[in-house]
Amino acid sequence: TRLIVTAGDGTRHEVEAADGLSLMEALRPLDIGIAGECEGSAACASCHVWVADAWIARLPEPEDAEADMLDCAFNTRAGSRLSCQLRVGPELEGLEVTVPHA
Ligand code: FES
Repeated sequence: TRLIVTAGDGTRHEVEAADGLSLMEALRPLDIGIAGECEGSAACASCHVWVADAWIARLPEPEDAEADMLDCAFNTRAGSRLSCQLRVGPELEGLEVTVPHA
């Protein structure tokens, strides 16, 4: 599945991600600030991304744990998601996200 990622410094990356990975796992190897410190437990917010406006409504709603963690995260805005809580699959083809920090 092809993903388009803008890093905190503005560089744009196109990623071909294996289906079934979390978005965090797909983005972490790029080394652009997705740390995934809690390994996907929705407990650290080091995988925070901004989803492009056009994608906000196309993604599953955040579960409570994700919503609670985002409430504590820095730099949140409309489209903020924990990338570890999103699963790569065909429905994400062409997804655009931005990493909030450099
Ligand atoms: Fe920790 Fe996503 S990896 S909240």
